[in-house]
Amino acid sequence: MKKSKISASMMCADLVHLKQTIAVFEKEEIEYLHIDVMDGEFVPNFGLGSDYIRGLRELTKIPLDIHMMVASPEYKFKWVGIQSTDMVSIHYESTPQIQRALDWLSEYGCKRFLAINPATPIYVLEEVLDYIDGINLLMVNPGFAGQKIVLSTIKKAERLINFLKEHGKDDLEVEVDGNITFENAKKLRSIGATIFVAGTSSIFKGPLNKYAENILSLRENMK
Ligand code: DX5
Ligand code: ZN
Repeated sequence: MKKSKISASMMCADLVHLKQTIAVFEKEEIEYLHIDVMDGEFVPNFGLGSDYIRGLRELTKIPLDIHMMVASPEYKFKWVGIQSTDMVSIHYESTPQIQRALDWLSEYGCKRFLAINPATPIYVLEEVLDYIDGINLLMVNPGFAGQKIVLSTIKKAERLINFLKEHGKDDLEVEVDGNITFENAKKLRSIGATIFVAGTSSIFKGPLNKYAENILSLRENMK
């Protein structure tokens, strides 16, 4: 199974101490910064737009994991200044032309992930498995930090791993996003998840001087 990686959910980061937070993440070798791009239409929240991404790239070289929670993402790739070192997730539910959207995304040379919400069945992946590098399995209805996991998504994660095996695609990354507590991380790692979006449920618990300890605890649970 692929090495497990942490994608720190930057919508949970304290803007006032962003530089210090990034310094901890660089020291702890956090693999990705998870950027929830929200347009207030696809999800009932708005945030982390192009200026935030541009600013973050000035601060650090940590690759970005851009989660486009926007309607019709294929017309908005230019908003986010995608680089080839990025991972970009677009939602199956966000466009009627998902294969075309994934095709257009290939222009950027980034890793392409298909995100699916808790109620979206796994079989929707069937016809696009050849166009993706991974799946972002939403464990909550996206748009807000601090939510509780939708319990049915745990069994769904198991079904997804089996589905990928049956289709000879067990080399794809499986990212899990939303309420990834230390316990949920342990359970999902045992199922086969490989990338863990870490927010208020894990690494951002408590003050800045606790983040490094939280990261080590999360890594313990993702082994
Ligand atoms: C959910 C977001 C997650 C979330 C993670 O829409 O995509 O990244 O912020 O944070 P917690 O751990 O609070 O769910
Ligand atoms: Zn996300």
